[in-house]
Formats: sequence, C-alpha cells, structure tokens
Amino acid sequence: MAIRNIVKDGDDILRKVCRSQLTFDDRLATILDDMIETMYAADGVGLAAPQVGILRRYCVIDIGEGVIELINPVIVSTEGEQLEQEGCLSFPGEYGITSRPEKVTVRAQNRKGENFTVTGEGLLARALCHEIDHLDGIVYKDRLVK
Ligand code: NI
Repeated sequence: MAIRNIVKDGDDILRKVCRSQLTFDDRLATILDDMIETMYAADGVGLAAPQVGILRRYCVIDIGEGVIELINPVIVSTEGEQLEQEGCLSFPGEYGITSRPEKVTVRAQNRKGENFTVTGEGLLARALCHEIDHLDGIVYKDRLVK
C-alpha cells in the first residue's frame, strides 16, 4: 500500500466527470487499498478516485464504522434535508454549511464487481453524497448554503 498525493483546489481534475469502472482486477484493488491508506493518513472520512488523479467512478468512505468501498455508485433514493458543516481533503482548512439529504440509499459494486446497497443517515448520508458528487466533478462548495 502507498499514500497517494491528493489533488487540491484549482486542479481541473476535480471538475471532470468520471467514467465507469468496468474491470475488477488487482489494479483496482491496489488503488482502493492506496486510497484507504491515503484517506486515513489525511484524517478524512472519504476519498474519491479523481482526488488521487483517477477519472473513474469509485470512492472510499469510513465515518468511523469501517470502510465502505463504492464502485460505480448511484443514488437511488433520498429523504429529508440536513444543513451541516462540511469540508474536503482537496480544500484543506476550509469548511462550510451545505444542504444534503438526511437519508440516502446508494446502489454500488464492491471491488469484486458484486452489487450491494447501502443506506446512510446523517454523517454517512453526507459522506455518500459528497463522494458521489466528486465523480461528477461537483465539489462541496457547489452545495454551500452559507
Ligand atoms: Ni471531497
């Protein structure tokens, strides 16, 4: 495993729409392992592939309840709204209040290509929306309410 450089604000990579991940091989596993290590080293709760310079649709999340790997994630339903403080490893030291759903259900694949569904509320819902936004070139600053 290796710690990768995190792309920072101002880099065009953060604004690109990522392509689907179609192969579930050792290379994907290595990148995911590196992303998890990089996320923990940076003390973050989530990291998306474009943040390590890879324009593919996958991300990792750990809000303190164990790591979740999401490949080709799609939000299938949302409920409610939360207004909470949010930051991003690509915008070090910056925070703001964003509008996010209170509850969200996401369908995705794991590193073997198997389908699964995850439902998150509160912080997990926020993290899921934040990381999936990255895959479409959207950053939390686009969701600021103040
Ligand atoms: Ni982020």
